[in-house]
Amino acid sequence: MVKPVTFTFEDVNIDEISTFAGRVAILVTPDGRMDNAARRVNRLTKGAVARLSEDELKAGDARVLAYPVGMAANAVDVICLDKRATQEEARAAGVALAKKRGKDNVLVCLGNHNKAEQIVLGLALRDYGFDAHKTAEAADDARAVTVMVTKPDEVKEKAAPLLAIAEGAFFTRDLVNEPANVLTTEDFANRLVAMSDLGLEVEVLEEDKLAELGMGALLSVGQGSVSPSKVVVMKWMGGEDGTAPLALVGKGVVFDTGGISLKPAGGMEDMTMDMGGAGVVAGTMRSLALRKAKANVVGLVGLVENMPSGNATRPGDVVTSMKGDTIEVINTDAEGRLVLCDVMHYAQETFKPSAMIDLATLTGAIIIGLGHENAGVFSNDDGFAKAFLKAAGNEGEGAWQMPLGKAYADLLKSRIADVKNVGGRAAGSITAAEFLHRFVQDETPWIHLDIAGVASTKTDTTYAPKGASGWGVLALNRLVSDRFEIKD
Ligand code: BES
Ligand code: MN
Ligand code: ZN
Repeated sequence: MVKPVTFTFEDVNIDEISTFAGRVAILVTPDGRMDNAARRVNRLTKGAVARLSEDELKAGDARVLAYPVGMAANAVDVICLDKRATQEEARAAGVALAKKRGKDNVLVCLGNHNKAEQIVLGLALRDYGFDAHKTAEAADDARAVTVMVTKPDEVKEKAAPLLAIAEGAFFTRDLVNEPANVLTTEDFANRLVAMSDLGLEVEVLEEDKLAELGMGALLSVGQGSVSPSKVVVMKWMGGEDGTAPLALVGKGVVFDTGGISLKPAGGMEDMTMDMGGAGVVAGTMRSLALRKAKANVVGLVGLVENMPSGNATRPGDVVTSMKGDTIEVINTDAEGRLVLCDVMHYAQETFKPSAMIDLATLTGAIIIGLGHENAGVFSNDDGFAKAFLKAAGNEGEGAWQMPLGKAYADLLKSRIADVKNVGGRAAGSITAAEFLHRFVQDETPWIHLDIAGVASTKTDTTYAPKGASGWGVLALNRLVSDRFEIKD
């Protein structure tokens, strides 16, 4: 499934530049300075690089010299990048290369650029396509990127954790892009179990166990589907023994028809991405394991399918959550919170986490509020929220804090049960967050991320082509290293 491009790091070998068949990428600075590789290309092309950079290049630009005479390459990508580029600019240079390269192998000449590994990450992240169901695509499409740098071992070492993060993001994107007849709850769980090869401890809780635990809210969502509901727990205990873990909890609705409160037909096919929260949790756990993070993190996902059937939950039904609170199901399409409330409760009871973050494609209302640029951030702990916002900001993943408050929670009062699952049209994302808040134990710092607008988009984003973005994998990795990882 996941087939990230393979990167090889090698010493600067000027002679290879003229003989490399594929694409060659070189860097020039905005004031036209060239490293050895760029100078060689310039000489081979009789000054084309110099003329190009004089005439039209400013920082961030990328140009192509097609079929350069005197070289075996099909094209040379000339990227204009400052020696003192920011992380964002360096990644953008990599993104520009990824967009141009098509199916070619590439020789990327980065000389001694001090953010070479960030250029590599940008290239890796943007070089993604979901072709699992395109019969024409070559299955063994083995593309390679050779990175030519003055200190290959050093750059390789710096790039390794970043490539682990990219691979985690790819895992998320594959899950989110996959249709629901392929990614059933069973298939999803199997893909997570397979991650035990990476050193993750993975446990699947089946329906009988969930019933025994009292997860009546979660089970009420899946009961109309032939696919069994599951909770999967992934543990990465790379930190200090005995340190309470960070808990990540994800909504994994493999398909959301709305249930008996059926959604309209138009656009319903997009609800294959309603497991996006679980996808981000899974991708983050994968990258933590791949980069052997020195942190204790548990990832829990609730996998269900929301279908209408003779056995489905009805509007008006009352269900009992694992916490014991009874919930009046006003609308069976507000199912994500029913799944999360039980998994969040279980996570706190089982792991006594030092902090908890849940991720969910929870409300259409967050798209009305924030569009596709920012995820909604809700928290009971301002310091924790700030740390997340900073991590997301540093990684270029949009996130915007929204309020919580008792007045919103009050909109969820039920006539016949402890709480109801919808609070009306007004502030739909906030009342959804307040529903979850009720299941957060007092002492747990908690963040809820409503990713309905950012998990999958109809247009390209900075780091991903249209479709699943993998939003959150970078930010969560950064938050883990900022706050939860042992520093050596
Ligand atoms: N999965 C949807 C939210 C969603 C909408 C995600 C659009 C991605 C794109 C969620 O389960 C849902 O249906 N929410 C309802 C809640 C309402 C019934 C209170 C909504 O947003 O309309
Ligand atoms: Mn729904
Ligand atoms: Zn949903």
